[in-house]
Amino acid sequence: MKPILAAILLLALVACSTTKMYTPSGANENKRITATLAELEQGRNLYVNNCNKCHGLSKPESRTPEQWTKVLESMAPKAKLTDAQKELVYKYLVNY
Ligand code: HEC
Repeated sequence: MKPILAAILLLALVACSTTKMYTPSGANENKRITATLAELEQGRNLYVNNCNKCHGLSKPESRTPEQWTKVLESMAPKAKLTDAQKELVYKYLVNY
């Protein structure tokens, strides 16, 4: 394989892995705040389907719970999330 092609492939791989969102499992339940696996899965779905319309997705661990609270205050209306949906997204974002 040509070195340049290998470099491009490696770059693509790194780019994909760095934006990969964690998939909730039993280990994430009630990790930081009370959240069931079903809630975390719903939160993930809402996040990956509604929050990437205007920009890319930030990794959950990129911000503290306090920062996510502030972000969601301004972003939930932009994504037209209900308060209940916003709560589910919050649970997913902090329970990594
Ligand atoms: C209608 C377009 C739109 C949607 C939908 C949207 N955003 Fe944003 N987002 C923006 C814009 C514009 C900015 C940059 C300006 C700003 O901070 O208000 C931004 C900035 C951000 C930032 C960086 C802000 C910071 O201070 O760190 C984060 C994190 C973010 N959005 C998360 C989300 C999440 C989570 C959702 C889903 C609930 C979401 N966004 C949905 C338009 C959108």
